[in-house]
Parts: sequence; C-alpha cells; structure tokens
Amino acid sequence: MKVRDSGMPEEAYWETLFDPVQAISGFPFIANSTASDRLLELGCGYGTFTVELAKRFRGRLDTFDIDPSMVQRTTDRLSDAGLKNAFVYQGNFVAADLPDHCRDYGVVVLFHIMHLENPEDLLRRVLSRVRPGGMLAFLHWRPDQITPRGPDMEIRPTLADYQRWSEQFHLTPPIEAELLDCPHHFAVYCQTSEPT
Ligand SMILES: C[S@@+](CC[C@H](N)C(=O)[O-])C[C@H]1O[C@@H](n2cnc3c(N)ncnc32)[C@H](O)[C@@H]1O
Repeated sequence: MKVRDSGMPEEAYWETLFDPVQAISGFPFIANSTASDRLLELGCGYGTFTVELAKRFRGRLDTFDIDPSMVQRTTDRLSDAGLKNAFVYQGNFVAADLPDHCRDYGVVVLFHIMHLENPEDLLRRVLSRVRPGGMLAFLHWRPDQITPRGPDMEIRPTLADYQRWSEQFHLTPPIEAELLDCPHHFAVYCQTSEPT
C-alpha cells in the first residue's frame, strides 16, 4: 500500500515546484562519492531526482517505487539520458524488506516520504542496509509554512523529529542542507555511526 498523502500531481507541474539540481547540491556527499559507493533512493516518483542523482553520484544507485507507472517513467528517463549506473525496482518499502542484494549503502535519499505512518519502522529497516558512516539525506515540504503541495502540516517532519530520530538511531545531529531555488522545502542530513 502507498504511504499516506503520497499521490502525485501532473509531472510537469510537480517539476515547477523546486529545482532538483539545486536541491541535490545541498547534500555535498552525493557529488563527493566514489565509484564503489552505493546510493538507495526510496520512492522515485517521476524520476525527478533519480536522473539528477544518477548524473552526479559516481557509484551505483538503486531506487524503489510501488507504482508501476512511476517505475516505468523513471526507467525511461534514465534510459533517455544514457545513465547506466541506476537501477529501478518496483516494491513496497513499507511492507517488505528490500532484496538481499540491496545493502552497504553509503547514501540513502528519503525525499518527500517521511510523513509516512511509521517513520521509525522505515528508518530501522533502512539503517540495517547502510554501511557505518553512511549518510541519510532527508528533504520535504517546509513544516513551518503553507506550500503549494505537500501533506497536512501536522504530519510533515520537523527539525525536532529529525533530532529525535538522530538520537533514537545513534545518528549525528541533523545538519540543515542549504537549498537554493527551493523556497518551499526543508532538508537535513545525518550520518550513521562510524566504527570505533
Ligand atoms: C510524494 S512522491 C515523491 C517522489 C520522489 N521522491 C520525489 O521527491 O519526486 C512519493 C512516491 O513514493 C511512492 N510510494 C508511496 N508509498 C510507497 C511504498 N509503500 N513503497 C514504495 N513506494 C511508495 C509513490 O508511488 C510516489 O511515487
């Protein structure tokens, strides 16, 4: 089942609401990746971020969506762009575990999804697939003002939510990402514990 409030407007309209390239620039570790790094994106949607991530991330990118039409659209866009480092899967990231080969990620991208019913359950499951010192990148509609799209204000993740999750899962405190040309968005990143 799709997570609550995760329906999408028309693609052309969706892509007027933020600049995916500028958004990705707010997470410097994406461009600073190496060929052996792995990135997991949950919920590819139209591939708006997937294509730009695949252009900038040097390693392999895996992305999941429950909606076959979103999987197809993203697959087509990656193919049209000649990007061969990204793999698109249909799957339910809430109900099912990720396939066994999906592990050791250095970056996990969670854009526009952390308003789901049980964010802690998702984080717990995802973190089991992240390598020590891996990064979690969160982006969502601002929780402090009305925006042209987005879930109910009451369920948008806030800085306090990210701080609580950081403590609960032993992540570094959230660092706010600098977002240019994304006036409606708020983004943070956290790092998982490095081995001692
Ligand atoms: C609001 S959209 C965001 C898409 C993309 N991350 C972006 O920011 O453009 C959420 C996406 O998550 C997908 N989705 C919702 N529930 C899901 C689930 N349980 N498992 C996998 N994908 C899901 C939807 O189909 C939709 O494409």
